[in-house]
Amino acid sequence: MKRISPLKLRELKAAGEKIAVITSYDASFARAADRAGIEVILVGDSLGMVLQGHDSTVPVTLEQMAYHTRCVSRGANQALVIADMPFGSYNTVPETLSHATELMQAGAQMVKLEGGQWLCESVRQLNHCGIPVCGHLGLTPQSVNVLGGYRVQGRDEASAKAMLEDAKALQSAGIQLLVLECVPQDLAADISKALEIPVIGIGAGAGTDAQVLVLHDLLGLSDHTPRFVRNFMSGANSIPEALSAYREAVKSGEFPAKEHAFS
Ligand code: KIV
Repeated sequence: MKRISPLKLRELKAAGEKIAVITSYDASFARAADRAGIEVILVGDSLGMVLQGHDSTVPVTLEQMAYHTRCVSRGANQALVIADMPFGSYNTVPETLSHATELMQAGAQMVKLEGGQWLCESVRQLNHCGIPVCGHLGLTPQSVNVLGGYRVQGRDEASAKAMLEDAKALQSAGIQLLVLECVPQDLAADISKALEIPVIGIGAGAGTDAQVLVLHDLLGLSDHTPRFVRNFMSGANSIPEALSAYREAVKSGEFPAKEHAFS
C-alpha cells in the first residue's frame, strides 16, 4: 500500500473528507493505528507527559524524539508519520535544519514546530532541504511557562486576528499541515476555510479538516481527561476496535460533538 502523502491529505480536504490523526510513540500502537486506517500518526512530544510522567512537554529531548520516531516508523507503513521537534530544538535556523534532519532520518516524513510568523524563515529553509513542515498554533504546550497555563487561546478579537495572520503567513512560507489546539470553534472553522492546507484540530471543534487526539486520552488512560476528549474504549472490546471507532467517528463528523468544543 502507498503511504499517505501531504498531497493526498489536501485532496481529502478538497473533497470534504475528514482526516483522522492520532499520536503514537511505539511500533505496536503505530501498527494498530495504521491497520485502523488512520491517515496520520504524530510522534508527539506529549510523550513527555503520557509516557514519562512529566507535567509538561518541556523536558523532552531530541534524542528521545528520534528514538520514538524510529519505533513508530517501524510500525507505520501507510500513515504519514510526523515527528514533533522538541522544546529548544528549533531556536535558530541552522539548529532547526540539523535537528529536523535527524528526525527525518529516524523515519518521519514531516516535522512539527510550535509557533507563529517567527518560524517562517525556518519553514522556507526546511522546504528547500526537502523537509515538509506541520505548524502548530493556539495552545502551544512548549510555551506553557509563557502562556501561564493550559488554556484556550484566541478568545479576544486581537489574538484571534493574530492567529489567522500567523496561519496565513505560515502557509505562504510552505507548511503543509497546521495543528490548532484549544481554539474557539468559530475561529478554528474560519482559519480552516481561509487555508488551502488541511487544518488538524484538537479542542478546536468540528469545523477543522482533521482531528487529532493523544492516544492515551482516547484510550481512557489519562488521569485528567481534557473536556475535548472522548474515551473510545467505552463500548469497544479491544484497542483495535477503539481505534476504528475513533476513525469512523471523525470520518462521519460524529466526533467532536458540541460538548467537546470551546466558544
Ligand atoms: O504532542 C502532541 O501530542 C501534540 C498534539 C496534542 C497535537 O502536539
